[in-house]
Amino acid sequence: GSTGRYQVCCIGAGYVGGPTMAVVAKMCPKIDVTVVDISQRRIDAWNSQQDSELPIYEPGLKEAVLNTRGKNLFFSTDVDGAIERANMIFVAVNTPTKKDGLGAGRAADLTYWELAARRIAKIAKSPKIVVEKSTVPIRTAEAISTVLNASGTTKFQILSNPEFLAEGTAMRDLENPDRILIGGNLKDEDGIQAIGELVDIYSHWVPKEKIITTNVWSSELSKLVANFFLAQRVSSINAVSALCESSGADVDEVSMAVGMDSRIGSKFLKASVGFGGSCFQKDILNLVYLSESMGLKEIAEYFHWVVRMNDLQKDRFVSRIIHGLFNTVTGKRIAILGFSFKKDTGDTRESAAISVCQRLVDERANLAIYDPKVQEAQIWQDITAASRMDRLELERLVHISSNPYEASQGSHALVVCTEWDEFRDLNFEKILGIMEKPAFIFDGRNVLNHEHLRKLGFVVYAIGKPL
Ligand code: NAD
Ligand code: UGA
Repeated sequence: GSTGRYQVCCIGAGYVGGPTMAVVAKMCPKIDVTVVDISQRRIDAWNSQQDSELPIYEPGLKEAVLNTRGKNLFFSTDVDGAIERANMIFVAVNTPTKKDGLGAGRAADLTYWELAARRIAKIAKSPKIVVEKSTVPIRTAEAISTVLNASGTTKFQILSNPEFLAEGTAMRDLENPDRILIGGNLKDEDGIQAIGELVDIYSHWVPKEKIITTNVWSSELSKLVANFFLAQRVSSINAVSALCESSGADVDEVSMAVGMDSRIGSKFLKASVGFGGSCFQKDILNLVYLSESMGLKEIAEYFHWVVRMNDLQKDRFVSRIIHGLFNTVTGKRIAILGFSFKKDTGDTRESAAISVCQRLVDERANLAIYDPKVQEAQIWQDITAASRMDRLELERLVHISSNPYEASQGSHALVVCTEWDEFRDLNFEKILGIMEKPAFIFDGRNVLNHEHLRKLGFVVYAIGKPL
């Protein structure tokens, strides 16, 4: 770079690019970090002086950004300028599931990735290390390398460095990762040099033994496989929850008993209304597509069942609500508590709440939706996109509440879709008083104190528990 300082650029200022680069800037004061995006709105939000207006909510993120922004962390729409100056370029653009064409509904859409790569190829005049941060199908680095090196103006090294952060705990995960995975060309001197430069960055705060290097393909595949294993655990315990509901066993007791086996482990065994989030489904479908295209039909089906089980779980939950409410919810007010796909994030991508609301709206229920972090406009956007009805029709059925009590007022049922901590501490006596009777609770996260609620007089349905 022109200043003599090491220059890092990140293309894509989203859930991954923003927090990841805030941590690099915080941990490496001698490195300049510029995060660029084509979305002016997103960059303006990152630069906003109103710290409540950062584009994403993540505990601890605001502090990290405020401490580094304008010093060694910069947000900009000048993509070309940042590419030109950079020694190392992270690409953290979105890689959603393809909507149309070959592989629609399964394969990853690499349009954004390729556009970013073509921009880098066009602008770069000095050698660059390009780091694949987005989650991509195996062999993407190879394709990207072909695009980058086609113009022949300068040399590029491609590394794979998948991100394992989870939303809601992103800052903690980034500052104290289980491992850092770097895939690169270990057989070539320039490859080893590039890996070394990325290792140097992480070594500012991550112990050396946690930084592992593999070949590029292993690294790309490991990311998809890690998400498969995590999602698989949720689908497995959710399958067990169905057994529990018809047998008298309690799924929380089962997962405790099973999880205490140190070979199995206790994490990610919480039964729920279903997993959401932008990645689990997309990455598993990606594995399904990869397996199919390799002719591995049974293996594709094995992967696919994790997603199908998740869809089934959401359906089962909605059926339970409808059956519980005497087989009709038409015209009944139902309070939806929580809309994000998990607590401590405002992200709603693939949230189970969206499917639950869409199915209830199809039954012509009246919904009062409350979430502590999700913006009203986002809820409308998600519900409208999921429903066959238009906005005007939906406005007759759906209402967004500013607090859980307002949502409960006159409701036949409370439906917990997200495990926000504040739901545990609600004043349920007050809520019982303002609801229709019998007052139902459907706890899609098993976070409430069911015994206590039953004593108060609620009829409580929970996931994987006898009535
Ligand atoms: P996101 O949609 O929040 O952010 C992507 C950003 O890239 C957007 O702001 C978009 O405007 C920008 N962009 C797209 N094309 C661009 C281009 N050509 N030039 C400049 N900017 C461009 O997505 P995300 O959630 O941050 O995910 C990014 C990638 O990281 C995905 O591949 C995802 O699978 C992976 N990932 C996500 C998470 C997560 O928790 N969200 C965790 C690990 C990995
Ligand atoms: C997940 C992975 O945990 C990250 O390692 C990965 O980097 C990321 O995907 C990604 O690639 O995007 P995230 O989706 O942000 O992170 O959140 P998780 O904590 O994994 O939760 C995913 C969903 O599973 C949520 O809806 C959550 O409520 C649900 N879940 C999780 C359960 O229903 N039960 C559990 O026991 C755990």
